[in-house]
Parts: sequence; C-alpha cells; structure tokens
Amino acid sequence: MTIVTPMGRDTKLKDKNTATTKTGPRKKGSASKGAGVKTLDLKDGGVILQGECLKIMASLPDASVDMVFADPPYNLQLSAELLRPNNQSRVDGVKDDWDQFESFRAYDKFTTAWLGEARRLLKPDGSLWVIGSYHNIFRVGATLQDLGFWILNDVIWRKTNPMPNFRGRRFTNAHETLIWCARDKDSRYQFNYEAMKNLNDDLQMRSDWLLPLCTGPERLKKDGKKAHPTQKPESLLHRAILASTGLGDVVLDPFFGSGTTGAVAKKLGRQYVGIERDPEYIALAHQRLAHVSQFAEDEMLTTPAKRSEPRIPFGWLVERGIVKPGATLTDHRGRHQARVRADGTLISADFKGSIHQVGAHVQKAPACNGWQFWHKEEKGQRVVLDVYRQKLRAELH
Ligand SMILES: C[S@@+](CC[C@H](N)C(=O)[O-])C[C@H]1O[C@@H](n2cnc3c(N)ncnc32)[C@H](O)[C@@H]1O
Repeated sequence: MTIVTPMGRDTKLKDKNTATTKTGPRKKGSASKGAGVKTLDLKDGGVILQGECLKIMASLPDASVDMVFADPPYNLQLSAELLRPNNQSRVDGVKDDWDQFESFRAYDKFTTAWLGEARRLLKPDGSLWVIGSYHNIFRVGATLQDLGFWILNDVIWRKTNPMPNFRGRRFTNAHETLIWCARDKDSRYQFNYEAMKNLNDDLQMRSDWLLPLCTGPERLKKDGKKAHPTQKPESLLHRAILASTGLGDVVLDPFFGSGTTGAVAKKLGRQYVGIERDPEYIALAHQRLAHVSQFAEDEMLTTPAKRSEPRIPFGWLVERGIVKPGATLTDHRGRHQARVRADGTLISADFKGSIHQVGAHVQKAPACNGWQFWHKEEKGQRVVLDVYRQKLRAELH
C-alpha cells in the first residue's frame, strides 16, 4: 500500500515530533486478512470513496489506518413528524433512510460487521472513536468490547446549545457520548497527553468536553437549509484527532457525511479516507474539502515531547531582565508582534496569554511552541527565545 503524506513523507514517520504516551507491549497484527486488497492513493492527502461502507472497507488492506472516527447511524426510530408545540413548526430530526433499521437485531448485525472491518483495517496500535446518542451508543459499546476492542475512555460531549425537549416530557438531551478504544487490550495506542494539556490551559484534559453544536458559518447549507442533518462541529474532531494521531497519520471515517473528519484531518496535516454512500453528501464533502488547507507548517501542528531537561518558565527570562517588560517580540519574519508584560505573559492587540497561547492566537493555529516562534531583537538580529532558554538551562546544570 502506498501512502504518501501531503508533506511527501512516509506515514511510518509518525510520533517523531509528538509527545506521545504508548502503553503496553506491542502486539503483532492479529486481524484477519482483507478480501480484495486495494492500494489507496492518498497523494493529495485524502480520498473519498462512494458506496456501502461494508463493501468498501472489505476492499481495503489490513492494518492500513492509524485511527477510525465513526459517526454511524443512530437508529433513532423516528416515525411521526415532530412539531414544536408553540408554533407547530417542524423539528429537523434525522429521518433519512440511512438511519432506518427494522429491529435492534438488524442494527446490531450491521454494527458488528462495520466494527469488525474497522478493527481489521486498524494498525495494531491504532485506535477508534465512535460517537452516538442513548439510542445506539450502549449497543455499539457492548459490540466493540465483544469484538476485542479495549475501551480507553468514554467522553461526554456536552452541548452548549442543545435542542430543547419540545414536549417537556423528558430532560433536555444535552450530550452525546464518544467511546475511544484501542484495537487491542495491549495496543500501544497514541495519546498526545501534552497537546491535550496545552489545549486546556495547562490542565489535564478531562473526559467531559463542553463544545457547541455546529451552527453559524461552519454549518453547510443548501437552499437555505442544513445540507446534512448531523454535521458534527469541527472542534470535536479537532480534539479527537489531535489527541490520538500524529502528523501524516491516516484517519478513516466510514460514515463521512459532509466530510467533517476529512476537513479537520486535512487542516491538521493528517490524511483521510472517507466512505459515504450518498452521492449528494459526497459532492458536498468534495466541495468543502476543496476549500480547506493545512493550518500551518508542520512545526505548528506538533507538540514537542517533554524533555528531560528542567522546565524553564518564560517568566524567568523576564525576572532576570533578559527580556524586559514592554519589549516587543516578533516571529522570525517580523509579521507578528507581541509585547512582554511584567508577569511573563504577552499581549498582542487585545489578546493576552502565555508565549504559546499568543503565538497560536496570532497565527490562528491550534497550538504553538512560543519558545521557537517568538524572537527578540538583539544587535540588529532576531534571536529566537529558545536560545535564552538554553542558556538558563546550562546555568542549572
Ligand atoms: C451520522 S451521519 C455522519 C455525519 C458526519 N459525521 C458529518 O459531520 O457530516 C452518517 C452518514 O453515514 C452515511 N451512511 C449511513 N449508512 C451508511 C453505509 N452503510 N455505508 C456508507 N455510508 C453510510 C449516511 O449517508 C450519513 O451521511
């Protein structure tokens, strides 16, 4: 299987620049052999394949993807039209054919089949995310355990703006559940602990994620209506992909819909394989992906591994007068500027934060290593902050 990354690298380079936790002894591939093996051409960073996911997955090679993100049918079993009691307007529920199953048994059979294929396609150290609601997530959870997946976390996506319960007969359904699991109990799965901690203002990332539904300009529209009924927010995918993959990794989504997984994977310098049976959604996803580009250079997308050297807070440079409050820092080309505050934070326009936060903010990037981004002018030359950090480290030895 040939996989060429958008950066022209072999995917085996994964983990090189990421702070990763790998646990347990590595297990050699235990998945069964795939049916007709097909070569994936990911030269452009990704591919969308049209058709039934079971059939298409069966044609892909064993152990060829690093992560699966799946947003499968919910099996909502909505029959009657749901109307808002105040004005009788129609509630936009999911009543599409793809969500209809004749019984729980039929749903379980389908779930067992696609999860089995997903497990075969995952590399031994790969992991799978699946999202669902109370209608299906318990069935999916039991099935994936039966198949040998190893649950790592269940994550609650708490919606900041859930749809109200119109009939007032139940609690507002304000969350969905994601299950994150490794292919096997002893998989050395990837977890970018540092990246998650950085994303969460230096606190361990918790398993309850407070994120809004996909609304506003992010929501794709066709003739003024939602182009896809269950388009997920990019913020959710950003967190899942950043947590459990490295640059250039291959992310498979067997229920691609409007292509949210592909859009975020592309932005973060990962590759994607999307499978979707509806040609209209395929067209929508193609259109969407054509307008997406990678956020920034590779350096901005990785979290350097925590070194064994002592941690040097930027504030120490300020306390020692190496960088003075009020001094202006710039990036290496002088395009972005920020001023140093007495407490070791930076301010750029009206945005304040650590050297990392302000660096990420000015570039509109998800993360930034401020030590390598910001420069101080010294004798007409721009000197990267990391040089001063190294000097302080040397003093401590
Ligand atoms: C819940 S939606 C996924 C939405 C997606 N996460 C997004 O953000 O747009 C499920 C999608 O899977 C597709 N689908 C359902 N069953 C399928 C199957 N057996 N094979 C391929 N696609 C399928 C549906 O057409 C639908 O677009």
